[in-house]
Amino acid sequence: MKQQLEEIRLRALAALDEAATPAALEELRVKLLGKKGEITAVLKQMGKLSAEERPIMGQLANSVRADIEEKLEARKLAINAAVLEEKLAAEAVDVTIPGEPVELGHQHPMNQVLEAIKEMFVSMGYTVVDGPEVELAAYNFTRLNIQEGHPSRDRSDTFYFTDDDSILLRTQTSPMQIRTMEKMQPPIRIIAPGRVYRKDEVDATHSPMFHQIEGLVVDEGITMGDLKGALETLMRQLYGEDAVMRFRPHHFPFTEPSCEMDMQCHKCGGTGEVDGQVCSTCHGEGWIELLGAGMVHPEVLSGCGIDPEKYSGFAFGMGLERMAMRQMRINDLRLIFDNDVRFLDQF
Ligand code: DAH
Repeated sequence: MKQQLEEIRLRALAALDEAATPAALEELRVKLLGKKGEITAVLKQMGKLSAEERPIMGQLANSVRADIEEKLEARKLAINAAVLEEKLAAEAVDVTIPGEPVELGHQHPMNQVLEAIKEMFVSMGYTVVDGPEVELAAYNFTRLNIQEGHPSRDRSDTFYFTDDDSILLRTQTSPMQIRTMEKMQPPIRIIAPGRVYRKDEVDATHSPMFHQIEGLVVDEGITMGDLKGALETLMRQLYGEDAVMRFRPHHFPFTEPSCEMDMQCHKCGGTGEVDGQVCSTCHGEGWIELLGAGMVHPEVLSGCGIDPEKYSGFAFGMGLERMAMRQMRINDLRLIFDNDVRFLDQF
């Protein structure tokens, strides 16, 4: 028995030294000290011993048990420390490693130009107004003096919703003139930016949806000089003090007189030629058409309950895409709508 106990002690201490996990330790504890463990098994044989031998064996068994318990405790502490060490190493955070930069987006180039234009008009005392894209033909055409049968009302140009052609996707922002004059009395000073729709095939300069900014000023004594002043101020601020523009006579049913405004081509400087070739930006014209404008027709004023004897006004409508293309030197309209980040990132 003595030998058995000594052998258990040796084997147990060696095995405990080898154990590397809390689970392995627990397994050994049960195997050695448990109710069905090795020491208990030896002690069960005590009955066979003489009265003198029994206390000696009892003492030996207790000392083996105590050694094993002590070793168990020591290993437990060592293993827990190692586990903690490993965990700390694995979960360590190096606060000196630079973080991953968060990429910030920015406004679409169209919105950048729109914001700049809005800001300039607001600084000149204009209010920004908004109106429906689904519009009545009465506002889009009739009350702007565009009568039945006028080519711009044609079904091949306009998206109609109803068989009687009374509701449509607005083809211009000019109906906002009527909507504004219906609600407000002079003095009126507004701009109305927004989407407009026409049945156009897509190419470098056309899209079935594009944006316009309408402007309307009505007050006593407003003249064509005020119109020129407002538009020249805008263009100089947008394109620089040396921007060159011209006003050409034109016809619009809702203004009289009417005009169009062109900017001198930035690519060829107005010559229409670049390196002996026809300029690709203005197609040799030397000028780029930017907007239509004029003095609000007396019939349009009186149709909205404003006395044309007392008041006069000017109006204009400009294409936002054209302004953006001119400003950002973009030569194909489709790039603006594709929303390719590699393109947008440049602005
Ligand atoms: N609505 C016109 C168009 O889409 C542009 C325009 C011309 C607007 C003259 C106006 C204006 O306000 O007075 O072609």
